[in-house]
Amino acid sequence: MAAEALHIRSAVDRNQRILLARRPSGLPAPEDFATDTTAIPTPGPGQFLARTIYLSLDPYYCDLMQDPAGSLLPGDLMPGETVSQILESRHPDYRPGEYVLTRNGWQQYALSSGQGVRRLDPAVAPISTALGVLGIPGLAGYAGIVYIGTPRPGETVVVSAATGPVGCTAGQVARLVGARPVGIAGTDEKCAYAVEELGYADCINYKRPDFAAELRRACPDGIDVYFDNVGGEILATVLACLAPKARIVLCGTMDSYRSVSPLPGPTLRPLISARATMTGLVVDDYLDRLPVLVRVVGAWIQSGQFRYREDVTDGLENAPAAFCRLMRGENFGKALVRVGPEHLGTPATASRTGQGGR
Ligand SMILES: NC(=O)c1ccc[n+]([C@@H]2O[C@H](COP(=O)([O-])OP(=O)(O)OC[C@H]3O[C@@H](n4cnc5c(N)ncnc54)[C@H](OP(=O)(O)O)[C@@H]3O)[C@@H](O)[C@H]2O)c1
Repeated sequence: MAAEALHIRSAVDRNQRILLARRPSGLPAPEDFATDTTAIPTPGPGQFLARTIYLSLDPYYCDLMQDPAGSLLPGDLMPGETVSQILESRHPDYRPGEYVLTRNGWQQYALSSGQGVRRLDPAVAPISTALGVLGIPGLAGYAGIVYIGTPRPGETVVVSAATGPVGCTAGQVARLVGARPVGIAGTDEKCAYAVEELGYADCINYKRPDFAAELRRACPDGIDVYFDNVGGEILATVLACLAPKARIVLCGTMDSYRSVSPLPGPTLRPLISARATMTGLVVDDYLDRLPVLVRVVGAWIQSGQFRYREDVTDGLENAPAAFCRLMRGENFGKALVRVGPEHLGTPATASRTGQGGR
């Protein structure tokens, strides 16, 4: 079939890309990335060309960057999920102008065969949410509470990294099923947002010296469910406050990226005395429930019961610095890079970095 096109590209248009330059030892630095430009590719039969609008920044990229035995090599394009718009199509099922969730990686333009692509309807929810609370991070938070943590009404559910897309979903789902969510976050501003906007009963700043005592005060009957995004010392502190038959959802290990060699782990002895269970969560096991997440949480967003926040950085060239900020824990909300405007012909709006609440 002949290509259908939304936009006639100019001869000077180029495709800007961000590559892995070298493996980081510990937290990534901007020098671990390199930039290049290539020609914009032309779709062949059964392919479409899409421009990147939002690039998702996700902590697991750090695993890919650090792993010496992994498939991501220095010189490779940084991989990543994107919300993109189709510009030219020779694919029978996709039309120019459609918004899709795809994996363009850290570049402005990419081809796709349609495999693994999800069509997005901007009328249902802001398209950026497909990378956050209505995407994989939201699904991890939702599945971890609904299928693993299974809190009963009135039970105390503690969530670390409480204001990010995973944590804000876990905390709000816990609240909406009748449990009492208590957040853990790294600044007083995040803690205030967690209580005032997300509806946590309390939120404790783990960087304060009295963190352990404050957590015990906020959870006087012990912790029934812990949704762990962090590991390390925060996990150790929480384990000392478990209620009998507590459930622990191991979702993320933000604390582990500081070093390439394993950090000393917490003592697991309290799990024994509390007869607790600890379960690993891999979101891939719940992909068939994504439509449930979109329906249930999408309706809560529309009715105003569920809030979220995005931390948007403008410009693909700023993706490395924004990713390093995420890995230092300095993001506030779902970390996104706006690579292009949502609508062609409209300039990208000013950065909402650090204050992009919706
Ligand atoms: N298991 C799965 O299938 C699955 C799927 C998706 C995501 N995840 C994991 O879920 C976790 C949360 O992901 P997200 O996308 O929602 O991220 P996020 O919350 O937007 O960002 C990570 C947050 O971790 C917190 N943090 C705590 N200790 C930290 C430390 N030592 N260093 C850096 N940050 C620290 C920071 O918030 P505070 O300042 O509030 O502490 C930081 O903002 C990640 O570990 C991710 O890998 C797992």
